[in-house]
Amino acid sequence: MLNTFYNFIEKILLNHEPLITQLQELRELIKNSLMLEEFRLKCVEQVLDSMDRWTDQDTAWNAPHLFYHEQLKYSVRIIFWPPFHENNPHKHKTWSATGIFHNFLNINTYELLDNPTRLKREKTIAASAFEAGYLIPGCIHNISNPTHELSASIHIFNNIDISNPEDNAVWFPAPRKFNLSSGLMERALSTCLMVASDIKNINAWNIINRIYEKSPVALKLMAIQAMYKFDRLHARKCFASLEVNL
Ligand SMILES: [Fe+2]
Repeated sequence: MLNTFYNFIEKILLNHEPLITQLQELRELIKNSLMLEEFRLKCVEQVLDSMDRWTDQDTAWNAPHLFYHEQLKYSVRIIFWPPFHENNPHKHKTWSATGIFHNFLNINTYELLDNPTRLKREKTIAASAFEAGYLIPGCIHNISNPTHELSASIHIFNNIDISNPEDNAVWFPAPRKFNLSSGLMERALSTCLMVASDIKNINAWNIINRIYEKSPVALKLMAIQAMYKFDRLHARKCFASLEVNL
């Protein structure tokens, strides 16, 4: 299913339409894909796969891109936003298209005033799960999670430098020093669990069990809670074995 998504992106980017038309098509593609439970679960699976593949002992898992197209230089990424987190205003050197993967996010746009240190907030787009939009090059913006829960967004970024994503944007004044990688894996697991819990099929059930197996105790308890919706007996067994091991 994700291959179909990537193939559609490629088809759009090669269709020789003006950039604005391509971005509108990417927005529709993201929106329509996010509406599909299977698409959301496949994304979650890919996030979990990337955790399983992570072998670097010295560096914490950093939510690597789900996909990168060498020739067309675009990447697909999921970003996990802590509650009330806001990044600094910035503008990308190229285009991007974004969808809300989980919960809510605000996208704020800014006007640069005469003095380069002064920005005026122009508008705020309050976006909820499965909504999508795009940014043309040069649009100064930032993203904030206005809620006390985790949020996640899915992005198609046109990358100039994949090895150093911060260099693909101009920051006002600089990338925020808040360490987004701190607790990132727990945040991602917790978000993946919430996404899977909203869906009731065998794939979601398998994902919940997979998250249970790989999580610390607090998240295991959340996973058990999610299991109750599917199979109370299995949830009770997991809870009992957790109690024994505590
Ligand atoms: Fe951005």
